[in-house]
Amino acid sequence: MKDNLITLLAEMEEYAIAHNVPILNRESGQLLQAVTAGATPKSVLEIGTAIGYSTLLLAANIAPGGKITTLEQDENRIVVARQFLAQAGVLDHIEIIAGNAGEVVSGLTDRFDLVFIDAAKGQYLDYLYKVMDKLSPGAIIIADNVLFRGWVLDNQATPRRFRTIVKRLQAYLDFVTNDARFDTVVHQTGDGMAVSRYQGEANK
Ligand SMILES: C[S@@+](CC[C@H](N)C(=O)[O-])C[C@H]1O[C@@H](n2cnc3c(N)ncnc32)[C@H](O)[C@@H]1O
Repeated sequence: MKDNLITLLAEMEEYAIAHNVPILNRESGQLLQAVTAGATPKSVLEIGTAIGYSTLLLAANIAPGGKITTLEQDENRIVVARQFLAQAGVLDHIEIIAGNAGEVVSGLTDRFDLVFIDAAKGQYLDYLYKVMDKLSPGAIIIADNVLFRGWVLDNQATPRRFRTIVKRLQAYLDFVTNDARFDTVVHQTGDGMAVSRYQGEANK
């Protein structure tokens, strides 16, 4: 990674801590980069921009001339994301769409080679259902936080207020691990990251 990119990412990490913005940790960021670099996608959808930290990691690894569409509902975070992404010189390749991702995804008309899901944890399966008819064959879907503090694999200790989220994350993992259209590996990295390859409708 180039020195100026490393410096900017460190600046974003500091901003995130100072302003209490949840972003990928370094280990998960490395996995995101490695998977993206391996896929060299031309068209990427990110659900959950925050301040653009993961957007920048994606941008550094897409195919030349590629585009990222990223969705975020928090207007203040979008302003900050735009500043950081402009500073990195990648804003021309990125479309940030403001709004509730669950509603925005259905209206998208692009086809995506890679989708990174990192927004409302209880909505992952809904996002996936809505994006499925927009996936290229062989598309990669990466979902962060799928093990949610370990409670998704062992839900005995889940506090009551998180039980619905945990159930919904379990439903997401059940779907991508059991549906023949997806090949999925769940990594323990960070809070758990699921990497699925969409095999196309022929495998239904
Ligand atoms: C974990 S943060 C994203 C972090 C970012 N992917 C990164 O690693 O740099 C989740 C973001 O999703 C946004 N979000 C949550 N629910 C959303 C929704 N329904 N629609 C759009 N954005 C949403 C939050 O405002 C938050 O900024």
